[in-house]
Amino acid sequence: MTSGSETAKSAPEGRLLDTSEALRHERRVSAALREVGVALGTTFDLDDLLELILSKLTELVEADRATLYLLDEGKKELVSRLVVGDKVRSIRMKVGHGIAGTVALTGKPIRIRDAYTDPQFERDWDVLTGYRTKSMLAAPLKNHLGRTIGVIQVLNKQGGHEFTGEDESILSALSTQAAVAIDNSRLFLSLIQKNKQLLDTTEQLERKLQDLSLLFELERSTARATTIDELARAVLGQCARACEARGAALLLSEEESGDLVEYVFDSKNPETLQRIGVKSRDGFLGATMAENDILSVDRADTDPRWNANVEGVFGFAVTHVLSVPLDGDDSPLGAIGLFTRANGRTFDEADVSLMRLVSANVSTAVRLFNANRSRERSERLTSIGRLLSQVIHDFKTPMTVISGYAQLMADADDRAVRTEYTEEILKQFDVLAAMQREVLEFARGGRTIFVRKVYLNKFFADLRRQIALEVASLPIELDFQVDTKLVARFDEGRLSRVVHNLARNAIEAMAEQGGVLTISARLEGDELVIGVQDTGPGIPHAIEGQLFQSFVTMGKAGGTGLGLAIVKKIVEEHGGTVSVRSSAEGASFEIRLPQSPGEVAVEAKKPATSRKSNRPSKGNPAKSPPR
Ligand SMILES: Nc1ncnc2c1ncn2[C@@H]1O[C@H](COP(=O)(O)OP(=O)(O)OP(=O)(O)O)[C@@H](O)[C@H]1O
Ligand SMILES: [Mg+2]
Repeated sequence: MTSGSETAKSAPEGRLLDTSEALRHERRVSAALREVGVALGTTFDLDDLLELILSKLTELVEADRATLYLLDEGKKELVSRLVVGDKVRSIRMKVGHGIAGTVALTGKPIRIRDAYTDPQFERDWDVLTGYRTKSMLAAPLKNHLGRTIGVIQVLNKQGGHEFTGEDESILSALSTQAAVAIDNSRLFLSLIQKNKQLLDTTEQLERKLQDLSLLFELERSTARATTIDELARAVLGQCARACEARGAALLLSEEESGDLVEYVFDSKNPETLQRIGVKSRDGFLGATMAENDILSVDRADTDPRWNANVEGVFGFAVTHVLSVPLDGDDSPLGAIGLFTRANGRTFDEADVSLMRLVSANVSTAVRLFNANRSRERSERLTSIGRLLSQVIHDFKTPMTVISGYAQLMADADDRAVRTEYTEEILKQFDVLAAMQREVLEFARGGRTIFVRKVYLNKFFADLRRQIALEVASLPIELDFQVDTKLVARFDEGRLSRVVHNLARNAIEAMAEQGGVLTISARLEGDELVIGVQDTGPGIPHAIEGQLFQSFVTMGKAGGTGLGLAIVKKIVEEHGGTVSVRSSAEGASFEIRLPQSPGEVAVEAKKPATSRKSNRPSKGNPAKSPPR
């Protein structure tokens, strides 16, 4: 009975013990799952996570060891990721082979009591390690899409037991956690990788953008440069800034002389660019140009190429040098170099590639600059030729006047009259000298038009005397209709040539039949209007349309066809216009010169109309008005 009552007593106790044992186990399982769950959200190291999962698994299913295999899809192999209870080793097995390989293939868990009795078990690993596998439990790792990404396997349940269905559920729960961890980690890694790629790309883009903006700036400033000095200063300043160099230099051979000149730029003193005459192979840039190769030097001060004449002029110790040749047609055009980094670092690959770009840009700019200069020079020579022919054409006027007065002088007994003629002749020498100056100034690239205040009274009085000389022996009457109170602004010498050229054409047109030459000047609005009119036969129809072009002449022996082209050029230099009306009754030229509003002084008096003798006045020529 006792035994019966003991038995009756012990059965519930035993059940209680089992239940509380099961409860403890459940708690351990859920605590482990919770711990893994927390770790999943806080740990980003996959190895740490998997180690935690495997150690919890080993503990919960009371296994001797646990192994996790990851599937290498490409090779169709399982690769062990981690082994607990032993050193970390890498095991590879073919999918479909062995227990884990079969689980990977079927996607279903396998539970084995004794591995050695299972035909699928492969003993190689045991043979290799001396381990004796007995009970086994293996389950697939499936990701959220249900795809098998690996296998977890536990070996040898403690106490020689076999793994239970309960163990299988624990393994299944933890393998789901492991799969999540692996997926997360892969996602995380790919994100990190993408981020890194993005950062690299951004960095490269920023660098490219800096390079591009430097090249853009270079292009802009070199195109604006009007001298090589300006070009050198712009290029060197920008390169030094972009590569953080303390100094920079540009070596070029002078276009005309071929002499080598080094332009030296110091960042501390950006306003002063030193210009040093050098010999071939002098200094680092000389060597770069001679070798036609990039030069990068870290200990410039002890380098045999260091040259006191060049590198010695910098206001700092030259340590690092990076110099690049400038491409020329056959041989280098020169070289460009950077000297000493502001932060003491050496010049790197990025600086080298930037300087390659810069050198290509600079050599193009220098070549373009030289080509422009030589084009300008040859254009100027052509223009000098044209100007010379025009000036020589207009020499005719002062020479005619001189010869006219010389003839008059021959007949003049009165000393006072002779003195007057001498003065007129001397004035014409001034005109000749002014024309000579005009050509020389143009050759030097200086201004050729000199606008100033002119008193029309005096201006036309001089003209009248000179033209009167020309028509003295001809049946031509002179009629001047000039508002003598006007003061206008124009280049006196030039406009005198204009009126003379027009007057001479008119005189030539009327030389045989005779006629009236009318010269007028009046103000219309803000324009000074000068007219030269004749009563000759009018312009030949054949040349009417091209009258103002050079070398268009008709009906004259010895005519060059330059007279009207000169008229047009001078009038246009003043911003004015010239027009012509012609009929069988004669030709009439009109010149309009714009005057700044308010600049033209005029007194309210009637225009003086004079119809005087053709002979130059012997007495008192028009007095110069007060200035
Ligand atoms: N007032 C005019 N009456 C008639 N024809 C004229 C007149 N002015 C110019 N011409 C015509 O226009 C042509 C061009 O004149 P332009 O002064 O340019 O050259 P040119 O007088 O022939 O040569 P140059 O000025 O060297 O003596 C003249 O050859 C002439 O045929
Ligand atoms: Mg002429």
